[in-house]
Parts: sequence; structure tokens; C-alpha cells
Amino acid sequence: MAAETSLKTIEWVGGVDGFVRMIDQTRLPGELVHVEIHDPPAMWEAIRQLRVRGAPAIGIAAAMGVVLGLRDVNDTDVAILRKRLDEVCEYLSTARPTGVNLTWALQRMRRRADALGQSDVATLRRALLDEARRIRDEDAAMCHAIGQAGESLIRPHAGVLTHCNAGGLATAEYGTALAVCYAAHERGRPFRVFADETRPLLQGSRLTAWELQQAGIDVTVICDSTAGMLMRRGEIDLVLTGADRIAANGDTANKIGTYSLAVLARAHDIPFYVAAPSSTFDLSIPDGSHIPIEQRDPDEIRRGFGRLTAPPQAKCFAPAFDVTPAELIRGLVTEAGIISPVGTESISAALGAREACQNIWNRR
Ligand code: MRU
Repeated sequence: MAAETSLKTIEWVGGVDGFVRMIDQTRLPGELVHVEIHDPPAMWEAIRQLRVRGAPAIGIAAAMGVVLGLRDVNDTDVAILRKRLDEVCEYLSTARPTGVNLTWALQRMRRRADALGQSDVATLRRALLDEARRIRDEDAAMCHAIGQAGESLIRPHAGVLTHCNAGGLATAEYGTALAVCYAAHERGRPFRVFADETRPLLQGSRLTAWELQQAGIDVTVICDSTAGMLMRRGEIDLVLTGADRIAANGDTANKIGTYSLAVLARAHDIPFYVAAPSSTFDLSIPDGSHIPIEQRDPDEIRRGFGRLTAPPQAKCFAPAFDVTPAELIRGLVTEAGIISPVGTESISAALGAREACQNIWNRR
């Protein structure tokens, strides 16, 4: 079990002059192929094209992308490295706008450099590689803690509905929403998962179903439009998704279609939970109206399955994410425990507790 749920989604290979190796998620489930990334433009492209995707994994990719951008700075002048650091951070921050982990990770890299003051170039590069690796390792630890915090939400023989992919592929390992499933499965609890296929890019059918099958969890793929029918038939006991950005009041951006599920869940009196690490919270914005929503290429809708699925010139509306208001969310499953009810006060109290956890991890 542990091997299957510990996919090496993204890793740094070698020392400061090394490179990034990641699963190319655009090739799944047909092929499990890795790509090597050697410079920031290749990393930018990998993020934009969803070779690496899912908010936490994008954050890790961005941090490692910064280290790649400093590989050829051999100059002894620290000012040149600093300038390059700023340029690379600025550049990578434009790859995708909604998931806050991207900017969170880049800020962390900048802060690490600031803390080292006028250290020499070699020391700075080494420290930034360590920081990127730490971001990866901490994400893995947070995901495992999320699994433990949320596993009791899944009752024996429950039907769990999930959307998009919030699994090991979307994080350092283990996942967020799927971490909860993995942890319940590891306890021997029988349950089944329904995976929304998640149009237009099919992260649910391509990635979530693939991951869960590898782990031996009973998974059934459904078209996104089937969710309401299953709820009405009483087959769904819990809806569990990940998040790309959670505002201070708990409003949550996640893959387009999540809001519709939350409304359906409310109509059928089914608990709707969001699982996310603290790195996905953006306490600088009061509510979800401030979350930038990525618009994707309309051809992802018009040419959905490698062929025309709409007239070539059809107008398409292609947001990648929507925002679910906090009042529809029963709880937020985080590494610091389950936050419920969801609101500004409960979130700030819980994230204060999380700071304590973070300090413990940093000391290890
Ligand atoms: O466009 P994607 O595939 O990057 O969207 C991913 C999601 O919406 C996930 O649910 C979210 O990032 C959480 S991943 C733990």
C-alpha cells in the first residue's frame, strides 16, 4: 500500500547543479512517463500545460524552478544572483494564477534568500535548494497529517464523491482529499469512491481513478452530470474535494464544477468537506471574490478527446476553477485538524495552531 500511495510526483535529482524529474500527468493513465526539467521556461510550460498540476505540486515545482534559474549564476556577485532570483520568481508566478501555493512557495524562496543577507553565491544556491526540498517534504508531512485528521469522516460502506484530482499526483505524495481515503483504507474500512470525470481535462477519470486503483480502493468513474442522480439515490454519504485557494472566510476555489457539487450536496443534505494544507490558505484576501480565476484555452473544450467536440468556431467559456462559498462547506480538513464550522475566526484560530506544527517539522 505505502508504495502505491507514495508516487514520486516531483523530485529534485542531484546537487545544486541538478534538475527536476516529474511525472508527465498529461500522459496518464495510458503511460507512466517522467520528464526532466532543466530551466525555468520548461518549468513554466510544464505548469501551464498541466504536466505537473494540483496546487501543492505546483508550489513545489515553482520552488524547484527557482533553483533551476540560478544554476548558471557562477558570478561571485551576490547582487546578480538576487536580481536573477527576482526575475525568475516574477516569471514563474505568471504560469497559473488561481492556486495560491505557487506564489506562496515563491515568496518562501525569496524570504529564505533575504534571511541569509549577504551570504556568498554558493551558500545562497545551496540554501535555496534545501528550501525547495523542505517545501516538498513539508507538503508530504502535511498530506499525511490531513489523512489522519479526516479519515473518520469516511464511515464503513460509505459512498464518497470526489472531483478532479486531489491525490498524490497533485501534491508531494499521498494527496489531500485522497489522503483521507488512503488513511481510511489503511485502517481496513470498506467504502467506495465515485470519481467525477472532471471535464474538460479529465483529471478525475485519468488521474484519480488511476491512483485509487493502484491503491486497491474501490473506485467508479462517473460523468460530472451523474452526481445529482447518485445523491438522490442515496449512494453518496460524503463529498470530499481539494482546494486551490481558500480565502480568510473559508470561500474555496477548486476545479470548475466543485461549486455545483456543493449546491447539490446541500440540496440532498450530504456533508461537503474540503481537504487542504495550510499552504493553500490565503489569509490576505477576506473572501472568494478576490480569487483570480484562470481562463483556459477554449480548444480544451472544443477538442476535448483529441478530436472536435464542438464546431471549430464555437464560443466557449473556459474557467478552470470556481468558488464555493464557505456556508456550503461543512468542514476544512487540514494538517491542524478539521475546521468546522468554517469562518474567519475558526480558520485563524486553527492556523495559529498550525504554526506550532510547522515549527516542529522545521526542527526535525
Ligand atoms: O487544473 P488542476 O488539475 O491543477 O486543478 C487541480 C484542482 O483543482 C485540485 O482539486 C486542487 O489543486 C487540489 S490538489 C491537492
